[in-house]
Amino acid sequence: MIYFDHSATTPIDPRVLALMQKVAEKHFGNPSSIHKSGQKARAIIEKARRQIADALGVKPRNIIFTGGGTEANNLVLRNILYSNKKHVITSAIEHPAILKTLKDLGKFGVGHSIIPVDKYGVINIDKLKSAIQDDTGLITVMYANNEVGAVQPINDIAEIAKKQHILFHTDAVQAPGKISINITDAVDLASFSAHKFYGQKGVGFLYVGDKIKLHPLIIGGGQERNLRAGTENTAGIAALGLAMELANTKLDDSIAHLTKLELYFKDQLNSIYPNAIYNGHPDSHLPGLISITIPSITSDILLVSLDLQGIAVSSGSACSSGDVKPSPVLSAMNISNKHNISTLRISFGKDNTIAEVDVLINALKNILKKHNKL
Ligand SMILES: Cc1ncc(COP(=O)(O)O)c(C=O)c1O
Repeated sequence: MIYFDHSATTPIDPRVLALMQKVAEKHFGNPSSIHKSGQKARAIIEKARRQIADALGVKPRNIIFTGGGTEANNLVLRNILYSNKKHVITSAIEHPAILKTLKDLGKFGVGHSIIPVDKYGVINIDKLKSAIQDDTGLITVMYANNEVGAVQPINDIAEIAKKQHILFHTDAVQAPGKISINITDAVDLASFSAHKFYGQKGVGFLYVGDKIKLHPLIIGGGQERNLRAGTENTAGIAALGLAMELANTKLDDSIAHLTKLELYFKDQLNSIYPNAIYNGHPDSHLPGLISITIPSITSDILLVSLDLQGIAVSSGSACSSGDVKPSPVLSAMNISNKHNISTLRISFGKDNTIAEVDVLINALKNILKKHNKL
């Protein structure tokens, strides 16, 4: 199988897997236990915390391990229930872990404003500014979008929030390994997930700025500075620490590799099919993430045809019982329903090669021919 769906999840790096196996086998002590086995597990967790802190240029105490990106986002958003400022501002292109949670919080008196994006998928800062109310307690805007890769002006928004004494959170799940991450003083909270950068699924972390006080979402033991109860996933956390370190080393090389694959793909496809439409920001986007509309062939047909040829990609649109539903992200970018349901997401990863891209181009060529598009 040729895998081009790295924005959905990445394969685990063999070095990360080897560490995870070793920790699971040998260092199974409870990190809260006093004995040596417990102390070893504790030391492994603290090492991972340091690796992450070093990669982000923050302090280890700013890192709170969670069960992934969705949980980190929920931890942040559900804290608004404890605030006397119960209005949240977000963007129209957030992951459901943000948008659905905000909808749910509406049942408990939390209001929210959804700020539109432009045709490139970038948030409108002026509209964000004018949505600020006296009771706005949180602004949450993703670092980079998972469907079209548009990178958001996070640091500008964080500064706006800081000036107004509003907490600022970013869902940075898609960023590691693809873009240099800048957690400035104005960023209060940021969510991450290991499986997006060659770590294990079901483990992630929340960056929590120095002065930020949070209430736990999961209550029980005192783990993670009382912010996330439950015996730690030592092996998954060790793997996450190494994965983060690896994502940060040779980042420029990774970006260059992903960019090379992306440009090669676009170049090759343009030479056989110039009618393809690329969505997202032309410059400010995650390298190697391509959102492509092939007018009048629906994404389910494209996706299944490629899958039959052993190529994994995804579509933004949801498909259930043969009925393709438009992607809310593409709709927010004002892309027509017709184009929306004919859009594929191709997301390259560190181990993909030019030869694999050639296979994809060839497969697309055959599909286009079959549908009389060439
Ligand atoms: C932008 C974004 N946020 C959050 C998540 C959820 O992360 P997790 O799968 O770790 O819960 C994802 C994963 O698809 C994502 O792309």
